[in-house]
Amino acid sequence: MADLSINLAGIKSPNPFWVASGPPSNTAYQAHRAFEAGWGGVVWKTIGDAVVNVSSRYSALNVGTVRMAGFNNIELTSDRSPETNFREIVEVKRRWPDRVIVASLIVDTRERWHEFVRRSEDAGADGVELNFGCPHGMCERGMGSAVGQQPAVTEKIVSWVMEVARIPVIVKLTPNITDITQAARAARRGGANAVSMINTINSITQVNLDRLVPEPEVGGLSTHGGYCGPAVKPIALNMVQSCAADPEVGLPISGIGGIANWRDAAEFIALGATGIQVCTAIMHHGFRIVEDMADGLSDYLDAKGFKSVMDLVGKAVPNVRKWEALDLNYKRVARIDYDKCIGCNLCYIACEDGAHQSIDLVPPNGRGLGPGRVPGKPIPQIREEDCVGCNLCANVCPAEGCITMASIDRGLQKMSWKDYQEKLARGEVKPIPAHP
Ligand SMILES: Cc1cc2nc3c(=O)[nH]c(=O)nc-3n(C[C@H](O)[C@H](O)[C@H](O)COP(=O)(O)O)c2cc1C
Ligand code: SF4
Ligand code: SF4
Repeated sequence: MADLSINLAGIKSPNPFWVASGPPSNTAYQAHRAFEAGWGGVVWKTIGDAVVNVSSRYSALNVGTVRMAGFNNIELTSDRSPETNFREIVEVKRRWPDRVIVASLIVDTRERWHEFVRRSEDAGADGVELNFGCPHGMCERGMGSAVGQQPAVTEKIVSWVMEVARIPVIVKLTPNITDITQAARAARRGGANAVSMINTINSITQVNLDRLVPEPEVGGLSTHGGYCGPAVKPIALNMVQSCAADPEVGLPISGIGGIANWRDAAEFIALGATGIQVCTAIMHHGFRIVEDMADGLSDYLDAKGFKSVMDLVGKAVPNVRKWEALDLNYKRVARIDYDKCIGCNLCYIACEDGAHQSIDLVPPNGRGLGPGRVPGKPIPQIREEDCVGCNLCANVCPAEGCITMASIDRGLQKMSWKDYQEKLARGEVKPIPAHP
């Protein structure tokens, strides 16, 4: 069985699954529950001066029957005193010495950063995470994303922390920035041991059209919140990969954003994360999701012949390149498995109105009928010579595995746009004609 343990910048964890800083990591009671369920680490709800929160605080984007496809909050950092938080970290660490506790911190001056790092160490924390990402409330006070959005300030504060830190320092980055690698490079220059990403994304999820106030509403007003949950996973994956691929970042990454199952976790790890953190999925389904995550990741690693989760870290990073490196002569076409087709014709209308008019509706002529098909109703048929392989029909098709995309060997040599420009300049190829 594959070894699930990880070592993130010197922090050893029995598995890569950590609870992210947020409501599920607010108290010792919850940390005990998390560890009982099997989580390898808990990043404590951010500790600083105790804040005063508003009511209400959360809002969600529901898509069809999927609840909380995206999730939004206007909650601040811990509303409990630093004394309570540090005392509870001592308690939890004493009971769970083999698990990881990371103290997430947010303060302002150099002296206070020094004080809070020392207090975290004294409490037995395995590391600290600097919250440079909170995108509401705290940034108005010059903390959170106000720091993470300015690389020079990030570098400065990290360097203050490194003056005293004896345990690993993770810098949690904000996605509310044009190029996250600039923030990650600044963390590296300041001396950080690792980065974590992403914190939440500025967002308004919905407006109550009777009252004309967005949710979450606080006495007739609202404010932009931080977006997270499944909807942010693609954004987080891109940011993790871009930092993992950047030699000037060169730091281990703790991946966060929309992770809910073992596949999500494996994707983050393959794109360069050494471990992952979860918040929204725990708020939705509870701590026990970690059981399936651990089983699923372990089975996947065994099936693929990886001896340890660390062997998977970053394996997909080199496969993400600039657009100019992609092969212009590679060709895919859509193929339909008529035994699975339910005859909804969503693929036909998508290709006709939204893509490249490469699907005909034709008589079935005895071709297999999938569940729910109306006998005699025309069926979609792909004209492979016109199909550009855009994947749209496969994405809209509601019948799992019904439309697959097949690679076609056209006997052409690989040629990227970069090669093409060079060959054109040398007169070795003719210009590729524009699509009719
Ligand atoms: C209600 C709520 C409160 C949060 N509070 C904090 C916090 O105090 N400190 C912090 O660093 N991140 C905080 N986060 C952000 C999460 O740690 C995480 O970065 C983000 O939610 C993305 O992960 P997810 O999609 O798994 O939720 C909070 C998130 C939510 C939903
Ligand atoms: S979308 Fe899928 S199920 Fe619907 S007609 Fe097209 S191939 Fe068949
Ligand atoms: S892959 Fe694109 S172009 Fe080809 S049939 Fe599907 S929607 Fe049409």
